[in-house]
Amino acid sequence: RKMRSEVACRVDIDGLNAPFLAIYESLIPAEEEKAKQKQLLTLLENIVSKEWPEARLDLYGSCANSFGFSKSDIDVCLRIADANVKKSQVLLKLADLLQSANLQNVQALTRARVPIVKLMDPATGISCDICINNVLAVVNTKLLQDYAHIDVRLRQLAFIVKHWAKTRGVNEPYQGTLSSYAYVLMCIHFLQQRRSAILPCLQGMEATYSVTVDNVECAYFDQVENLIGFGSHNREGIAKLVWAFFSYWAYCHDYADDVISIRTGTVLSKRTKDWTRRIGNDRHLICIEDPFETSHDLGRVVDKFSINVLREEFERAAEIMQYVPNPCAKLFEPY
Ligand code: GTP
Ligand code: MG
Repeated sequence: RKMRSEVACRVDIDGLNAPFLAIYESLIPAEEEKAKQKQLLTLLENIVSKEWPEARLDLYGSCANSFGFSKSDIDVCLRIADANVKKSQVLLKLADLLQSANLQNVQALTRARVPIVKLMDPATGISCDICINNVLAVVNTKLLQDYAHIDVRLRQLAFIVKHWAKTRGVNEPYQGTLSSYAYVLMCIHFLQQRRSAILPCLQGMEATYSVTVDNVECAYFDQVENLIGFGSHNREGIAKLVWAFFSYWAYCHDYADDVISIRTGTVLSKRTKDWTRRIGNDRHLICIEDPFETSHDLGRVVDKFSINVLREEFERAAEIMQYVPNPCAKLFEPY
């Protein structure tokens, strides 16, 4: 494979802003959906507080990080101080309580990588996963949401990229492709790295928010209202950014050496992270550093087969964006 720096973009690229924005708008959840999610959260809070008055519930993942599509499930984290009881015991007790409250399809998955209780609320039709004390996920949800506040182009780009990944079958971490969380980190990194940056590096600025979770210090500048307009010198529209995003992952990213890192706002080398060899199941074929758990590579799920699938999809998307007259239909063609 040859690497090249960014090639000249097609001249009519800005004419494609409207169709991309129309897709973005069509995926945004309606206000009434948000209201239903709140209603379900309140119901769950009532159920939980009877058994554990001190516990609290937080939304995390796409329902709270502003990158959620219409009609998605919600992810909830139950925070409970009781260190003496085992997580699996809490989950089983929780499943009991939910069942008695007439929630449907209640299932405790105590042996999953992230143990959860699943349920469906018949009143709102919303499905929900509840995990226990996954506080880092709550904190990285806030970080993503804070980034989304700074420039609307992040939300637009991430929606288009997630929609592409879902329709092309490359948003399946259990099958060796990337999670939605990984794609959003890729978008943030990309906008931090534009020649005229569209996003700052919040963890590189003076911290206004700081928490320590599981011995990890999570600190960054979170007063993002003060950063609105940060990227206004850069006038690139969504179509140009989609084109450049795919072109970067198809032709410019150095898969042999590079680690993308929104924590530092730069590209790190695999050597400095000691991510040059396969250790256990971590192959590091595409490296995306978690902003807080810095030893955590979101690309760890990618294997020697799926890396080719992913790279071929990036190249396909880049070529469509470069040459196809009306690229939207083809770009989002189900695989
Ligand atoms: P969709 O459900 O596809 O709309 O996206 P989502 O934003 O809910 O993303 P995803 O299901 O990939 O992840 C849910 C949340 O789990 C993320 O927002 C993170 O807060 C958290 N998380 C932390 N570490 C990981 C990880 O290694 N993989 C994934 N998938 N999620 C992680
Ligand atoms: Mg999710």
